[in-house]
Amino acid sequence: PRLQLSDRFGRVATDLRVSLTDRCNLRCSYCMPAEGLDWMPTEQTLTDDEVVRLITVGVERLGITEVRFTGGEPLLRRGLVDIVGRTHALGVETALTTNALGLVRTAEALARSGLDRLNVSIDSIRPDTFATITRRDRLADVVAGLEAAAAAGLGPLKLNAVLLRGVNDDQAGELLAWAIERGYHLRFIEQMPLDAQHDWSRAEMVTADEIHERLSADFALTPSGTPRGSAPAELFDVDGGPATVGIIASVTRPFCGDCDRVRLTADGQVRNCLFAREESDLRSAMRAGASDDELAERWVIAMRGKRAGHGIDDESFLQPDRPMSAIGG
Ligand code: GTP
Ligand code: 5AD
Ligand code: SF4
Repeated sequence: PRLQLSDRFGRVATDLRVSLTDRCNLRCSYCMPAEGLDWMPTEQTLTDDEVVRLITVGVERLGITEVRFTGGEPLLRRGLVDIVGRTHALGVETALTTNALGLVRTAEALARSGLDRLNVSIDSIRPDTFATITRRDRLADVVAGLEAAAAAGLGPLKLNAVLLRGVNDDQAGELLAWAIERGYHLRFIEQMPLDAQHDWSRAEMVTADEIHERLSADFALTPSGTPRGSAPAELFDVDGGPATVGIIASVTRPFCGDCDRVRLTADGQVRNCLFAREESDLRSAMRAGASDDELAERWVIAMRGKRAGHGIDDESFLQPDRPMSAIGG
């Protein structure tokens, strides 16, 4: 590539995270209100061809080497398998972050389209707690989806869990034991202020230190020797290994200094950070006839505004207007 996506702090984005829809079939309390949100109008949503065109610009002109598809829930996007296949054909790594609902039907096709990796959100393995958090009684479908993905060769699978105080924070150990038994790699994520309802509270969130302490009651955790690079998770060997667990301390130990990410929303806006306050409108530029060169140039400019960190603990912190479901994890 002739250009790269560098910012003022010397970081270079090579990991593109593409949100394919803001819709979801769950209603996780830390993400959305029970009634859902006002979904993006169809005409504002990129078509499959438009998504693939922007990904191609990123890969061929801007040095993107990995593409992760997110949502909302990306399995709700009809063209997903096709988009993954066309992205894979560009020669980059492809990954998907999903809630696994409907994966039973698509795991095989996704594997055949060249999907390299899969992360699944699962916050509890108790049906009642799962239903409390997601407001849908669908745990069995998620578990079946995981099994289908493993059978289709999409493993080793990663699991993401968010702990909520008084809801599932007493279940960290059982979730980890369950994951290890099945060969899934579990990571706990600190809750971030990205919920549509603005209910997040710094004092209430379950911290990485707390997660570590809770797990240590049941398991011997030792820092894993694997170099972390730009990966968000701190890795620990469990009971001497080979099993590991990850803790993603986004809030209390930010990894922004090593960030190599850039985001594209389902309506074609480049976001240089999860917490960006400005977006760059590639959709309008594209629909007004911009060339690939012009799109690449706009994208490069969008990176210059990337701030050093998310600033969640700053006095002046402002939660982004877009909730997590419209940005992508
Ligand atoms: P791999 O390690 O490549 O599997 O990807 P990943 O860990 O980035 O993927 P995933 O989409 O599963 O992200 C896990 C969680 O990490 C997300 O749900 C977020 O909570 C957190 N996360 C991902 N990207 C960022 C980021 O840019 N900034 C911050 N602060 N947190 C992030
Ligand atoms: N803070 C941290 N993680 C979140 N996720 C969704 N909302 C939040 C939040 N506010 C996670 C989901 C999923 C991934 C896409 O992002 O649990 O694993
Ligand atoms: Fe859906 Fe993911 Fe938000 Fe849960 S966290 S409501 S699965 S988009």
